[in-house]
Amino acid sequence: MNQKEPEQLQTEMAKSLRKAVPLFLMAIMVLAFLSFQPVASFAQVSGADKPIAGTTPGGTDNAANSSAEMWRKIRRGVQATTTGQNKMSGQLMQSEGNDWRLTRTGPMLMYSSWAILGIIMLLCLFFALRGRIRVEGGLAGKTIKRFSTIERLAHWLLASSFICLALTGLNLMFGRTVLMPLLGKDAFSSITIAGKFIHNYVAFAFIAALVMILILWFVHNIPNRHDVMWFLKGGGIFGSGHPAARKFNAGQKVLFWIIILCGASISLSGWALMNPFTLSMFGGTFELVNQIFGTTYQADLSLIQEQQYQSIWHALMAIFLIVVVIAHIYIGTLGMEGAISAMTSGDVDIKWAREHHSLWVEEVEASENTTGKKGDGEALQPAE
Ligand code: HEM
Repeated sequence: MNQKEPEQLQTEMAKSLRKAVPLFLMAIMVLAFLSFQPVASFAQVSGADKPIAGTTPGGTDNAANSSAEMWRKIRRGVQATTTGQNKMSGQLMQSEGNDWRLTRTGPMLMYSSWAILGIIMLLCLFFALRGRIRVEGGLAGKTIKRFSTIERLAHWLLASSFICLALTGLNLMFGRTVLMPLLGKDAFSSITIAGKFIHNYVAFAFIAALVMILILWFVHNIPNRHDVMWFLKGGGIFGSGHPAARKFNAGQKVLFWIIILCGASISLSGWALMNPFTLSMFGGTFELVNQIFGTTYQADLSLIQEQQYQSIWHALMAIFLIVVVIAHIYIGTLGMEGAISAMTSGDVDIKWAREHHSLWVEEVEASENTTGKKGDGEALQPAE
């Protein structure tokens, strides 16, 4: 038998894996697309099921001649007569609730699943075309401290809480369609109740981690002139030669600000969902948008409408962040040689660091020379 060197075998295995993994994943995606049945269609949401003046919703016989005015009162409520009276009083049927339900079970499910499957497919394609981004000429074997213990703690608290929230949240969105038929109603119900508790409590760990990374990394994520060059060179993703960057490059800064801003927004809307009718943000926002852009969005929202907007917004932000984080996890693990150790041991190979963050390495080395201390990342964060 032909005895192959272990290194040669490894390279061959890596090559076959590189070819097989994307094809396998793409096949799964195609099957998932084909099997996905959205619960409601766009036509339903756009008002095809709304009542026609003079008839009842559904056109039931016994009330076929009821007046449009009566139905308007049932849907809109009778005008409040006492000051301070709840705007919703007298409203027997909330039509917007139906729109909200149909949006959640129809387009939202459909577009969210496309977004998640889409990013996985794109990454598979990228991996098939570009392969793993390697350090030119191989790793040096000498390392430099990149992240301190507290930075890694904050990162993993953020990552673990986010993954927990994403899984329990996706179950709230897709569970009835995907898991319930597989597990049965009883098991699904127990899992979902437990998941909802986990979702509510883990949210606070996520918020704490978000504040931690904001404090730790804010200064390193202030845009500078090198970011423009980084974008112009496409981040050095294709071809050789990497654009210069300090501790974080422009791509990482974009990720950071997306996570901070969308993370804050998702936290606020989550708070509003946990404490119903305490936060009204959408009416005011629509009013502002109308003033600035001359649009005519309904700004006089009832408390229940506010809740419905919070719920849609929370889900939209979550899906967007999940898509972004899937791409981030790919780059941090499979996509780039030498990156993951930054968040495990805290050290990275010096050649990796010079390729991706050349200015940062210069800053750390200059700082070591002036203080005479060996950079350990705890004491020697590069100055911006
Ligand atoms: C298992 C999942 C994850 C892995 C393997 C991972 C890996 C990494 C690695 C290796 C870095 C350092 C990159 C460098 O040295 O320049 C990093 C940085 C970072 N991670 Fe993660 N991460 C994960 C999940 C998350 C999640 C869920 C979030 C946020 C919700 C997140 C937010 C960040 C941020 C803001 C940075 C700094 C900016 C950047 O390097 O892109 N990470 N991650």
